[in-house]
Parts: sequence; C-alpha cells; structure tokens
Amino acid sequence: MAVLGCGSVGSQVVRLLTEQADDLEARVGARLELAGVAVRRLDAAREVQVPAGLLTTDATGLVAREDVDLVIETIGGIEPARSLILSAFENGKSVVSANKALIAEDGATLFEAAAKAERDFYYEAAVAAAIPILRPLRESLAGDRVTRVLGIVNGTTNFILDKMDTSGAGFSDALEEAQELGFAEADPTADVEGFDAAAKAAILASLAFHSRVTAADVHREGITDVTAADVASAREMDAVVKLLAIAELRPGPDGGEQVAVRVHPAMIPRSHPLASVRGAYNAVFVESEAAGQLMFYGPGAGGSPTASAVLGDLVTVARNRLADTRGAGESAYAERPVMSMGET
Ligand code: HSE
Repeated sequence: MAVLGCGSVGSQVVRLLTEQADDLEARVGARLELAGVAVRRLDAAREVQVPAGLLTTDATGLVAREDVDLVIETIGGIEPARSLILSAFENGKSVVSANKALIAEDGATLFEAAAKAERDFYYEAAVAAAIPILRPLRESLAGDRVTRVLGIVNGTTNFILDKMDTSGAGFSDALEEAQELGFAEADPTADVEGFDAAAKAAILASLAFHSRVTAADVHREGITDVTAADVASAREMDAVVKLLAIAELRPGPDGGEQVAVRVHPAMIPRSHPLASVRGAYNAVFVESEAAGQLMFYGPGAGGSPTASAVLGDLVTVARNRLADTRGAGESAYAERPVMSMGET
C-alpha cells in the first residue's frame, strides 16, 4: 500500500494505519503493509512521525512498485493527482482518494480507467469527510428514487454564518475567527466563494441521480455578500442563512427529467433539520420516494475525520482485492441529462 501526500489528511491516514494495524489486519484478513509515503519535500514539518525509510519524493516510482496493491491519494488538486491515479490503474492498483476537485472536474476519466483496469476506485472522503454519504447514495439507496439532495457541505462557511447568527458579527470578523481557529484556509476563496461546495454538490448529484455532473455544471454563489443585516432579517423571520448545495430533478425539454444543481446562500426556517447544523459541521438531507427524508450529519472537515472515511474505503478495497472482486463502481452511463447552470 502507498500513501500519496502527507498533509493534514495523509498524515492522519498514516497515523491510523500505524495505530490500528492489528485491528485492520483482523478486519481485512491480511496485514496492510505501508510500502511508502510520497511527499514533495523530505524535510517538511509533519503532524506525525513517518519512518524516514518510507518517505520518498518519487510518487510515480512508488505507484508502479510491485509490492504496492493499493494507492491512497491525499494530494488534492488536479495535477499531479490525476496522472498518478491513472498510472496506478495502468499498473493494476486499486485507488482510494479524498480528491473532490479532481472527481468533480474529471471523474469520468478516472471511473473509465478503473473499469478498464478492473480495479476499485473509492472516494467517500471527498464529500463531507467522516459522514458516510456517498456509499448510501451509491448503494443503500440504489433501489429507491432520490428526488432532491440539500447539503451543508462546507464547514468553513457554516462556521462563519453560524457565528454571524449567534453573535451578530459581520462577515469579515467571522471569517477572521474561522481562520484563527484553523477552519478556514489562509486563502479561503474556495470556501467562501462556494467552489468547494460546488465540487461536492457535483459529486453528490452524480451519485444521487446516476448522472455525470461536473463542477462547471453547478450554479455557484458564495457568502461574501451576506451581511449582518441579512442574517438579522432572517432571525426576525425565525430563519437562518445557510450556504446550501441543492441538487434536484426538474422537468426536461423532451418530457423527461434533468438534473439541476446549485450552491448559494439560502434562508431556511429554524424548524428545518438543516438549521440545527452548527459550527463547522456538515449535513446532507436526502429526499427519496420510498425512504422519505433522511439526514446524514457529522464533522465534514479536518484531517482525522477525513482519514476515517479514507480508512473505511481502504478496508473495503483491500477486502475486494483479497476476494479478487470489485465493488460497486460508478455506472458507465448517464441515466439523466444535466441542466448546465454553471458560468461557462
Ligand atoms: N475547506 C473545507 C470545509 C474542508 O471547510 O468544509 C473539507 O473539504
């Protein structure tokens, strides 16, 4: 097994792999040996101690090694992550990834490569970190008909809006506090402008509606224009402002249905379950014909919660590998057309 990247997620993956090695061996039925950890710089400061012999700057070489069956990608971004994942499939490895940006932009290429290689590609950690939501949409609800998905899928913006609601703070002060507490990045553009939520919305919509939605299809509006007065008005109406990712079915031009996805700030009544999602937490509210309403809730960001989802996928992929089988891959077809609501 190889881990690509050793930032906040990769280092927590390495920690859990080390601390829980015996339990993982019992659950999988074989020892998961860490063959190497690919990093950009050998001398960078890290959250966990990685044995020096495991660190390498040669990610391509690590992915191709014969003693590596499974590759965990925690680098993030488009390149070199995409090339390394494709190289892993070409070399016959299965892959677990936490990379929402890549999957939302070019998931189809990765799914096709996995199918061609007859290997697994799992990515539960890409949306809402520790909250199990992709597997329920792909597997548990596969026999139902999902009609709408509403999500609070960005912890940073939920923290900011919650702070504005509870303390009356303005956007800039709330953002500063989020940065001080380590929720928001030093450059929080992807969070506050809704890019991060749009990528997650595309992935949720693709699975919920068995379609191929990319981030470019998603109408996106961030929270930078939300003022303390907007939040106060919502409070007067017994409502809260949340950054919502909304994916739903709409009537299509040919009498069929199409998938429409958008991310924007919205007022929701305090009585709605999503209104109770506080701080940097995430929740995804799913409406389906047979099951009715379901809500998935929990920590949607952070190294350790994200690593939890990565390890869950790793156990599945390792079990499949031992059984010489594949899990439920993404369908090679798109069941429903997508209404492009993006800027392009
Ligand atoms: N920046 C993201 C958030 C991290 O705040 O939710 C998890 O993707």
